[in-house]
This record gives sequence, structure tokens and C-alpha cells, in this order.
Amino acid sequence: MSTTGLVVDRGLEGVVVGSTMLSNVEGKIGRLTYRGFDIDDLAPNASFEEIVYLLLFGHLPGASELEGLKRELGARRTLPEPLVNAMQRFPKTSWPMDVMRTVTSGLALFSPVNERGEHVSDVHVAIELIAKMTTILAAWDRIRRGLEPIEPRADLSQAANFLYMRSGKVPSEIEADALDTYFVLLADHSFNASTFSARVTASTRADIYAAITAALATLQGDLHGGAASAAYNTLLAVETPDRAETYARGVLSRGERIMGMGHREYKVRDPRAKHLEAMAKKLSDYRGDSRWYDIARSLEDASNKVLQENKPDKKIYANVDFYTAPVLADLGIAGDEFTCLFACGRIVGWSGHVLEQLADNRLIRPQATYVGPTAGPFIPISERTQNGVAKK
Ligand code: COA
Repeated sequence: MSTTGLVVDRGLEGVVVGSTMLSNVEGKIGRLTYRGFDIDDLAPNASFEEIVYLLLFGHLPGASELEGLKRELGARRTLPEPLVNAMQRFPKTSWPMDVMRTVTSGLALFSPVNERGEHVSDVHVAIELIAKMTTILAAWDRIRRGLEPIEPRADLSQAANFLYMRSGKVPSEIEADALDTYFVLLADHSFNASTFSARVTASTRADIYAAITAALATLQGDLHGGAASAAYNTLLAVETPDRAETYARGVLSRGERIMGMGHREYKVRDPRAKHLEAMAKKLSDYRGDSRWYDIARSLEDASNKVLQENKPDKKIYANVDFYTAPVLADLGIAGDEFTCLFACGRIVGWSGHVLEQLADNRLIRPQATYVGPTAGPFIPISERTQNGVAKK
């Protein structure tokens, strides 16, 4: 409660600021649905492209609708040449998330404008952004390794084409499937911080490029999408499964947080974690190397144990980022790219939310209570000391 008697909700926890038809997070029971479909049904059965259709068009596609979407995604994957040329001049040490945010914003420069000089924000621009996001990341992976980017292939899925653009090799079914499932699980998550950011930006009638750029900027912090890369660094730091408990105790004793654990909404284990855990196991069996999976498994057990000892009245469970780390590491993706991969899935939700916001818009503009000093008389600069105080 503030001094004015108004309730201050720092972090907006539990505050309802809008409505959406896209997804529903039921934190108490650990359920996530996209337009009413449970992700427990979608993750093993639906392709990422079906989810793109579901979220953008409002229903699951029929075969010809899905073919049409795949054709459009395939046709829109290539980046404008000047942007690729610009990327080739970026410092090779640039953080992939900085590159993705900058180039995504740059796509607006090559997008047509209407008679009022404004970029169009419609479902086709959304598909364009979804299609190009993975191309940006794959191109940067090659450029920073001193290699030429590989042209996208229109005949592959978003997931398979991304892996192909990194290596020039069409991935195995199990690898493409793992990434596809990851994208399905990340596609939307109601009013999370980056999505809210996109909606706030769109509510000012800024265009979809601006809104998605804002979402990317918001995703990067390690209390949100940045936790994916941070969870990978954790696996690296743990090194071997037997060191997990010592590591977890060390983190807590320094007053830090165990990355990939805890969630604002879920009061039980994040429903996406079990699918990613299963995928991590499948990939490690396929590769014949279970290093990442084994470390993650023992770290989750150790974290549950020490977090419970630390706060007996609060249960903290693994979130989506926890098992993202072994899945993406097993796919050969560099740890500093994990947050970008999160964005390549979440771009679908961001776009859907921007279009939903624009369809029934009201400027989002909350209030704050003022807790600064009360105004005094203005003191001309000639009569002020260093600290803004009047000279004697
Ligand atoms: N490790 C250690 N302690 C944790 C923790 C974690 N991963 N997550 C929460 N806690 C503790 C906090 O320290 C806090 O303790 P305090 O009350 O003594 O200060 C308490 O649990 C509540 O944390 P709070 O940050 O208020 O909860 P929240 O609901 O806002 O937190 C997160 C949600 C995601 C920000 C938080 O769990 C976190 O920082 N997790 C690690 C980062 C992460 O994985 N982010 C990705 C989210 S999908």
C-alpha cells in the first residue's frame, strides 16, 4: 500500500491487464493450452507449422491450409541482401541476441509501406517475421565462424531448415523433431513479460516490427528468456552429475538463483519441462552420449532438495528453460544462442498477440504513485551549488 492509499502491485503479480484467446496458463494445476488445446496433446502430435496456423488463424489447419502456410513460410525465409552484408561487418564477438534484435528491427527498412508511409502489420508480415527469425540466427552462427551463410531451403520445416542452414546437412528426423517440439512448446505463454512488452508497444499503434523488436529486448534478461542460456552455463559449471548438490548449495549460499528453476505462474512443475526432459533423454540415447541429460537430471533433483531445505514453505520447480539446455546442447547449438532459439518459437505468440491487440486496441498506460520530494521554488543555476541547493 502506498502513502496515497493506492495499492502498488510491483511486478503486476496477479493483476489482470487484458484478455486473450491465444493461450491460457493455469499455474496451480500446471496446464498450458493454445486456443483450448492442451500442450500435452500438441507437443507429441502437432508440428510447429500447425501451431503457427492455430495461433495466427484461430483453428487447426486442414491439409491444404497447412500446405499453403508451409509454402508461404518457405518463400519468405531469405533475408534482404543488404542486411546479410551488414551482418558480415558486425564484430564477430557480437552476442547473438544483439544481432537478432538489430537485424529484426532492420527488416522494417525493407518492408513496403502504405499510402500513409506506415508499415503494414498483418498476418503475412507475421509469417514473414516467423520465417526469417531462424534465418537470422543461422546466418549469424556461420558469419561469426568465418563461413558463408547457407541459403534457406523452402522444402524443409522451420526446424529442419534451421539446422540445415547451420551445417549444410539435412538433420535426422529425431533432431528435426526435437527442435520442432521445442518450438511448439515455446510458441506462446499468455501475458509473459516479452509478450506484454509487444502488446504495450502495439497499443501505441507502433507497427509489428517495432513491437517484435521490443519483445526481443524484453526477452533477453535472465529472469525471462535469458535463463535458457544461463541454464546452459549452469550445466557447464556443474561439469559432472555428482557435483550437482554441491553446486546448488553454493549458488544459494551466495544468495544467487538456480537458473531454470522457479516460475511466476506455475506453482507446480512447468508442464513443458516433462516434454523437454523426454526429448533430452531421446536425443542423448540417439547420440550415445548422455552427459547433458545426466547433469540436468541430477541438478533438478539436487535443486529441489536444497531449495526445499532453504524455504520449507515454498516449492520451487523446474521451468521450461531447465531442460531446454540439454536439448539444445545435444543439437550442437552454442549456449549463447539459446535465448535466440526461444525467440524463434515465441515469435509466433508475439505476432498473434500484436494482431489481437491491434484488432481491439486501447492504449496500455498504467499509473505509478509518486514517492519523490515535494516541489520547492526553482533556483536559477547562478544561485545553485553542486547539489542543487541554494547558495547561502
Ligand atoms: N533459485 C533460488 N531461489 C529462487 C529461485 C531460484 N531459481 N526462484 C525463486 N527463488 C526464491 C527467491 O529468491 C525468493 O526468495 P525471497 O522471498 O527470500 O526473496 C522467492 O523464491 C520468490 O522469488 P520471486 O522472484 O519473488 O518469485 P517470482 O515468482 O517473481 O520468480 C522467477 C519467478 C522466474 C523470476 C524466479 O523463479 C527466478 O529468478 N528463477 C530463475 C530464473 C529463471 O529460470 N527464469 C526463467 C523463468 S521461465
